[in-house]
Amino acid sequence: MTQRFPVPGRQRLCSLTRCLLPLTFALFLLAGCQPVSAGRGSQPAGAPGLGDPNFPFLGNGGYDVEHYTLDLTVQVSDNTISGTTTLRATAIQPLSTFNLDLLGFTVDAVHVNDLPAEFSRRAHELTIAPRLRLSAGDLFTTVIRYHGRPEALADPDLAFISQGWNQRDGTIFVVSEPGGAMTWYPSNNHLSDKASYTMRVTVDAPNVVAANGVLSDTRVTGNQITYVWEMAQPMATYLAMLAIGDFVRVEGVGSEGTLIRHYFPRADAAALTANFANTGEILDFYSDLIGDYPFDEYGVVVMPFPLGFALETQTLSVFGIDVTLESVNAHELVHQWFGNSVTPAAWNETWLNEGFASYLQKLWSERDLGSELTDNGMRQYYNAMQQMKLPAPGTVGERDMFSMTVYERGAWVLHALRLELGDDLFRQILRTYYARFEGGNVTTADFIAVANEVSGRDLTGFLNGWIYSAEMPSIPE
Ligand code: TRP
Ligand code: ZN
Repeated sequence: MTQRFPVPGRQRLCSLTRCLLPLTFALFLLAGCQPVSAGRGSQPAGAPGLGDPNFPFLGNGGYDVEHYTLDLTVQVSDNTISGTTTLRATAIQPLSTFNLDLLGFTVDAVHVNDLPAEFSRRAHELTIAPRLRLSAGDLFTTVIRYHGRPEALADPDLAFISQGWNQRDGTIFVVSEPGGAMTWYPSNNHLSDKASYTMRVTVDAPNVVAANGVLSDTRVTGNQITYVWEMAQPMATYLAMLAIGDFVRVEGVGSEGTLIRHYFPRADAAALTANFANTGEILDFYSDLIGDYPFDEYGVVVMPFPLGFALETQTLSVFGIDVTLESVNAHELVHQWFGNSVTPAAWNETWLNEGFASYLQKLWSERDLGSELTDNGMRQYYNAMQQMKLPAPGTVGERDMFSMTVYERGAWVLHALRLELGDDLFRQILRTYYARFEGGNVTTADFIAVANEVSGRDLTGFLNGWIYSAEMPSIPE
């Protein structure tokens, strides 16, 4: 029973918080998960985690969130937030207490169903004791008022930035995969509880705010501007995006049915507009391949500095200025279907995100370059991975969630399936899998079941070999 979050660095010195967090957690759990200030003895408590195999204390048990409303006033210059988060959720068990995940900040007040509620805090667990106990099936509203400067959450995969909220040179951006959402708003911080969002973000002019979904309103009050963004389809917490800075909005053309709107740093807007000019075309390509684009609008937000990565934040992927490549654009677009709309149920099955994005990104370049090139490239990876003895991608620990195993051996699962079945059946499997699980959560077993059903064969052994065997199977003839 160890607290695995925040993640320990790869062979790094143990920082004070990293060592203390597991300890506070162990004590918290020994105390029976009961918040001291709530004092409810043996009353039913929502679990402080969902038991994710990699992050057992991310998310919380006992309820399901339907909608988040984030009202944030952000002081860009001193990097502080004054916020109110309103959650509409359904209790799935009786609850005398339940938890949200929030790291740092001062919590000023909590209300449940308009009544003040007691609360206590341990590490990233905010435990709330509503005045009236909730019953299973109750739809209830929780309002949390909080303020402060977001706390840094280190991540072994991210070199110079934090997981979650970041401020650099007057630009604010969020990159939360997997657990960083708790650095800026209280939530049920696990990908298995998706919800729609309203974000109302107030900043000093002339800052521009970009976030997920559709910009539904912009209000100016004196020197302040409030941007209202609506994300109507369900979204996992790690995909919630906020970017604040000197951005220009560029509306693109090229897609048949989806508005393309990008946010570029003012100084680089012309060059980036050219870089991303075919985004609509790529989007239409994947809509044809997989099924209609899952959301209302799409675009990217590019930071005015290098990050070394991009992240597929829903409807608004975030890019460092150093990775604004067509291949990465295609990769993050694929994630809108696989990852964002169809989301793994747990963090040990990231191949369902990254294997799909890595492989399907190649199908975009294949359009110009031909399928032989894809196959040659895949075979080179096959040989390299065999020599490296890469482990199987199917279930990975937290250190391997974004490793070559997940991206490239993950991609090989799909390439092998395509070689085995041919293009038509392969596409039919992708389309059926997407259509069936659109907007929801999946496991590897769900994917295998669809492959079996669509092909009319039992491919379980074949796919298990590619997904779970330490040794890669031989390439289908
Ligand atoms: N999902 C991202 C991609 O493949 C990679 C990624 C994983 C990431 N964790 C991250 C990016 C954290 C930024 C921050 O495109
Ligand atoms: Zn990816």
